[in-house]
Amino acid sequence: MTLAHPIQTVCVCGAGTMGSGIAQLTAQKGFHTILYDVSRETTDKARSGLEHSLLQLVEKKKITDEEKTAILGRLRFTNDVNDCLADIVIEAIVEKAPVKTALFNQLAEINHSEVIFATNTSSLSVTDIASQVMRPERVAGMHFFNPAPVMKLVEVVATPHSNEATLQSIMTLAEQLGKTAVLCKDAPGFIVNHVARPYYLEALKLVEMGVADFETIDNMLEATGFKMGPFRLMDLIGNDINYAVSCSVYDQLGQPARLKPSDIQRERVERQELGRKSGKGYYNYP
Ligand SMILES: NC(=O)c1ccc[n+]([C@@H]2O[C@H](COP(=O)([O-])OP(=O)(O)OC[C@H]3O[C@@H](n4cnc5c(N)ncnc54)[C@H](O)[C@@H]3O)[C@@H](O)[C@H]2O)c1
Repeated sequence: MTLAHPIQTVCVCGAGTMGSGIAQLTAQKGFHTILYDVSRETTDKARSGLEHSLLQLVEKKKITDEEKTAILGRLRFTNDVNDCLADIVIEAIVEKAPVKTALFNQLAEINHSEVIFATNTSSLSVTDIASQVMRPERVAGMHFFNPAPVMKLVEVVATPHSNEATLQSIMTLAEQLGKTAVLCKDAPGFIVNHVARPYYLEALKLVEMGVADFETIDNMLEATGFKMGPFRLMDLIGNDINYAVSCSVYDQLGQPARLKPSDIQRERVERQELGRKSGKGYYNYP
């Protein structure tokens, strides 16, 4: 059995909604963290967003000012892929398998042989990603939920290629990050995104049929105990990401009619009404 390699430095690829949250979490928990994105504008936005989140934690007396400085000191923002040298790479980039595998292969060339490649994909086949990567045994899913610093669950997705040391390292890291790690087999949507699909799709169908408007549906479901209605939740996730997940789960399960992705959501994506990250989705975010 290969021994687990100790994790000291984490490289998070993609500084958008998920990557910035994951990087905040790893730096808060004491790991040297590199946050990489192809877009300079995104790393700048991630840096100011992170500083703002940490300031709020200081104001709420959850961390001290010295801790805030130390956390920021552990974070490095970069747009140069050659800076991505770490013990584990957690990718949170665009939900497209060829882009993810190309990045992993590029990073396999420059990192040590024990580096772990964890994908935060919500719905793509981790097995397919692993089979296209140079060291498939060191690939697994590490699926965080949004917002990553807050949500407790992490799905650790094992493929037939993943070796014991890789899965053990990811489970241990998730626990060090204060998460509840659940090991699951690779399957379309894993556990949560499989179970949650009808929550979004049925709500979208109700709007399509004119039964109720989206705000009424959100208010009703929140009044019955759901923390967020489906439309507010889709705006938080990002309509592009949520639509990509719906399409991917639908295709992987053989296109069952009940899981057909919604035209309303596709149109929102086409209009770039992505939700909070673009300032407009079902709701407006000034
Ligand atoms: N949004 C959610 O609620 C959520 C939850 C769990 C998992 N995920 C998954 O996390 C991943 C990222 O989602 P997100 O919502 O953070 O997306 P996002 O659109 O907010 O951010 C993606 C970032 O990746 C960058 N990027 C694209 N290609 C790149 C490359 N080759 N190298 C480096 N950076 C690149 C983009 O510039 C962008 O900043 C997706 O796989 C998604 O399925 C999303």
